[in-house]
Amino acid sequence: MKTFHIALIPGDGIGPEVVAQGVKVFKAIEKMDDSVSFTFEEFPWGCEYYLQHGKMMDEDGMEQLKQFDAIYLGAVGYPGVPDHISLRELLIKIRRGFDQYVNLRPVTLLHRKLTPLKNKTEKDIDMLVIRENSEGEYAGAGEWLFKGKPEEVVLQTGVFSRKGTERIIRYAYEEARRTNRTLTSISKGNALNYSMVFWDQVFEEVGREFPDVNTYSYLVDAASLYFVEQPERFEVVVTSNLFGDIVTDIGAAITGGMGLATGANINPEKTYPSMFEPVHGSAPDIAGKGIANPLAAIWSVSQMLDFFGLEEWGKRVFCTIKEIINHEEHLTPDLGGKASTEEVGDYFVNLLMQTKELDV
Ligand SMILES: NC(=O)c1ccc[n+]([C@@H]2O[C@H](COP(=O)([O-])OP(=O)(O)OC[C@H]3O[C@@H](n4cnc5c(N)ncnc54)[C@H](O)[C@@H]3O)[C@@H](O)[C@H]2O)c1
Repeated sequence: MKTFHIALIPGDGIGPEVVAQGVKVFKAIEKMDDSVSFTFEEFPWGCEYYLQHGKMMDEDGMEQLKQFDAIYLGAVGYPGVPDHISLRELLIKIRRGFDQYVNLRPVTLLHRKLTPLKNKTEKDIDMLVIRENSEGEYAGAGEWLFKGKPEEVVLQTGVFSRKGTERIIRYAYEEARRTNRTLTSISKGNALNYSMVFWDQVFEEVGREFPDVNTYSYLVDAASLYFVEQPERFEVVVTSNLFGDIVTDIGAAITGGMGLATGANINPEKTYPSMFEPVHGSAPDIAGKGIANPLAAIWSVSQMLDFFGLEEWGKRVFCTIKEIINHEEHLTPDLGGKASTEEVGDYFVNLLMQTKELDV
């Protein structure tokens, strides 16, 4: 039997509500499959922890997390703690400290009724955005000079190392080759005359190793337009930390909203644990009401199962997400239903147990 050890960081707001539903899915799989088991250890880190202890996680938090196969995170951030603290001292600390330099964000339309785009169907919106996750615009490098004075100057430096840029671009080419899809790079070389000219150059250089992969390169402004007007242009997409953050929110908007957007933070070498999380935040406006959509968090479970090498289970969870979309009465209000978070989780598990073979 294979056992996978999972660290749970439910976090703030709706984080604990949605993670609890994901855990139900793991437990259901254990019941159905004798060859796998999952252990969970929960960590109380987040904004409440910060307000009590003055820090977002334990001093030796990274050391504690290191022993796990993966981290399952809900959301962090809550009014009362500045967002730059909650984000940097927990989420970005883990992404960076564990060198999770690949952020995988599927932008897949599960059902045509979910897109606000006219005349677009499931076959038009099905891409994988690969976002650089360790440096770039989010490197945290910069200066705040003459603070509060009339001559105040703020510098925010993008950091694009050769190693960091090459490895994310190579990962994307490999993914495009493996799945026989086109690869599109999104950058902004006309305005960002160092970082993005370099990015474009590396995209071309690495591309010489992959003559079989068809490529496109767009400026981020044009790409944002195409995401909305012609999403069918994109199959595998590679882009920087900031641009990836923004275009995947457009991706969420065209595929059913934040309740259906997932993201995996991967350390491909498996030197450190990878982290799986819904893309949405802690949604303070609906926290505690029991109406948060847990499907993004459950999609993260599917990504984690793939990462563990349990692709059949990953696919089955994904197919069940596609299937539950047809059962509107069992969805949360953001998707037009009336069900609570818990009810969706319970119904999902029932469906998963019933459905052996579903069409993808
Ligand atoms: N990865 C993360 O942990 C993460 C990501 C984004 C924002 N945040 C933090 O979360 C807090 C709130 O940020 P925000 O309001 O900008 O973004 P948000 O994603 O929390 O919410 C945006 C909107 O989407 C809705 N929404 C989000 N998830 C939903 C779900 N599962 N089901 C139904 N509706 C959902 C919310 O109700 C809200 O109207 C901030 O503190 C922010 O820093 C954390």
